[in-house]
Amino acid sequence: MTYNVGYIVGSLSQKSINRKLALALSRLAPPELRLAEIPIGGLPLYNHDHDPNYPAVAQEFKDAIKASDALLFVTPEYNRSIPGALKNAIDWATRPYGSNVLNGKPSAIIGASPGAISTAVAQQHLKTILSFTNSPVMGQPEAYIQFTKGLIDDESGHIQVPATADLLTGYMRAFAAHIRRHHHDIPHL
Ligand code: FNR
Repeated sequence: MTYNVGYIVGSLSQKSINRKLALALSRLAPPELRLAEIPIGGLPLYNHDHDPNYPAVAQEFKDAIKASDALLFVTPEYNRSIPGALKNAIDWATRPYGSNVLNGKPSAIIGASPGAISTAVAQQHLKTILSFTNSPVMGQPEAYIQFTKGLIDDESGHIQVPATADLLTGYMRAFAAHIRRHHHDIPHL
């Protein structure tokens, strides 16, 4: 069986190292996973006045999540948490009340930073949020990628350090197994 995995990059930067990581992950993923980005950059800031008349861009975002079998969050850490743009996207995904498209959707979290502890704290915060939104999130393995110059080839998206390539290959295999275990949790409304 093939699974469509939507990946959400928590950075809006054109030069995002996390988008580079996402591309590398799509190269490393087992053939049963088809990865495509679900962009969040066009979403306005959420507030509940939008609920009766959801903007088309937000509805399209929710529809893209609905059409995915699983979600992969590839995010930077901002001030020891997740970027506001990512939290905003999650808020859009869960509203109006009763139409949370993260409900039951298998997910995994990964991220890159130049810092030594990488995105560890942001990932823990995101796990807490996804637990509330009832998205079965992969607990293990975890992957905290310290981004160094030359880690990913800009042209091909291939990881240049064999030990990191092995780690990420194992991570994506584990994610495929996680999706197989949980894809039946998605409510078919
Ligand atoms: C950062 N950065 C950062 N790094 C980190 O490891 N922990 C942190 O808490 C923060 N905080 C933080 C706040 C803000 C506002 C910015 C702009 C940056 C550095 C961050 O890891 C670095 O800029 C990455 O390049 C961001 O990822 P993208 O956008 O390149 O994918």
